[in-house]
Amino acid sequence: MIGLGLPRLPPIGIVRAVEGVRGALIKLTHWLAPAPVNVLELATGSWVTQAVYTATKLGIPDAVAGGPIDAQRVAEKVGADADATLRLLRALSAKSVFRERRDGRFELTSLGQPLRSDTPNSVRALVLMIGHPVHWEHWGDLLYAVQSGKPSLEHLRGVSAFEFFEENEEVAEVFNDAMTVTSEMVIGPVLAAYDFTPYRSIVDVGGGHGRLLAAILQKAPDTRGVLFDLESVLPGGRDYLVEAGVADRATAVAGSFFDAVPQGGELYILKNIIHDWPEAQALDILRNVRAVMGKQSRVLVIEAVVPEGNSPHVSKWLNLEMLIQTGGRERTAAQYADLLHAAGLEVTRVLPTIGPASIVEAAVR
Ligand SMILES: C[S@@+](CC[C@H](N)C(=O)[O-])C[C@H]1O[C@@H](n2cnc3c(N)ncnc32)[C@H](O)[C@@H]1O
Repeated sequence: MIGLGLPRLPPIGIVRAVEGVRGALIKLTHWLAPAPVNVLELATGSWVTQAVYTATKLGIPDAVAGGPIDAQRVAEKVGADADATLRLLRALSAKSVFRERRDGRFELTSLGQPLRSDTPNSVRALVLMIGHPVHWEHWGDLLYAVQSGKPSLEHLRGVSAFEFFEENEEVAEVFNDAMTVTSEMVIGPVLAAYDFTPYRSIVDVGGGHGRLLAAILQKAPDTRGVLFDLESVLPGGRDYLVEAGVADRATAVAGSFFDAVPQGGELYILKNIIHDWPEAQALDILRNVRAVMGKQSRVLVIEAVVPEGNSPHVSKWLNLEMLIQTGGRERTAAQYADLLHAAGLEVTRVLPTIGPASIVEAAVR
């Protein structure tokens, strides 16, 4: 059985304080250098993305993790050109991913560790999605997305994101593996922030492979769950619920949330669902959830809620990611409140987590 294996998490106050200090230090570094230097550092961010992607794709962090190693040997291990590998290692050493020693050999730094394939906190799969040539082309067409307000994926591929993934198994696999990493980054903080144990029945709408539902059921032994998703996605979910040892309290139900969602939930969860869709479809989904909710039921919209103001937050970049990929969006708490209100629901509270996601809880109005 797969255990929760969730790391011990720091209190949210400490996390916010550290973020505040980081923000202040970034402002300080900007203040110390001339504006053209700062802005060119921003503009060459794409170079860094591709350097990190290439090193990760080639398995260089794994090759270097064993101890000090020279570029020639790294190149042999990963099947690359020796001189080009040296240039790549030097560039990434200037970004603290590797460290070049006085003897010319390279080591993996603590920053580079999560790029390995075999560490518990690996983000390798996410990096492989971010720099993937197909995903990269979508970002390369951001200009179109901003001018038209429409997703560049549709512009380039002629179909919607979900159709594109259905037709392109290899790209879908890269995407799904990346989503598993993001899910795992979110699940621990969500479980720490919200008490699921009072609910006897939980429906995870668009629950994917059931990772969140399984983690909740492991923590709430008297709760039963329904994993609801498209038929094509459910086999992976059924297997995972068995592996997690919760299959006796969980049912996998196939269907489309645009038609109807299963009845009987005391709690409905929509994690990373609403942000995939523009207003009209997001409303359709929420109205279908509202239609099966009782007076005591709750719905949780778990998303990266965009903070007001200028503070740095990953949601502001995910907002562009949603624009180019699906035509969806990340929303502020006020935008979620308006959307939920239009669907006949009312926000009861918004709980931050120490991860990128917040939990917007709502009840029937
Ligand atoms: C971004 S993923 C989120 C998955 C999961 N909730 C998570 O956070 O890991 C979106 C999910 O919505 C599902 N989905 C897309 N269209 C759907 C539909 N019409 N009905 C039900 N599920 C759908 C996808 O199969 C996928 O599992």
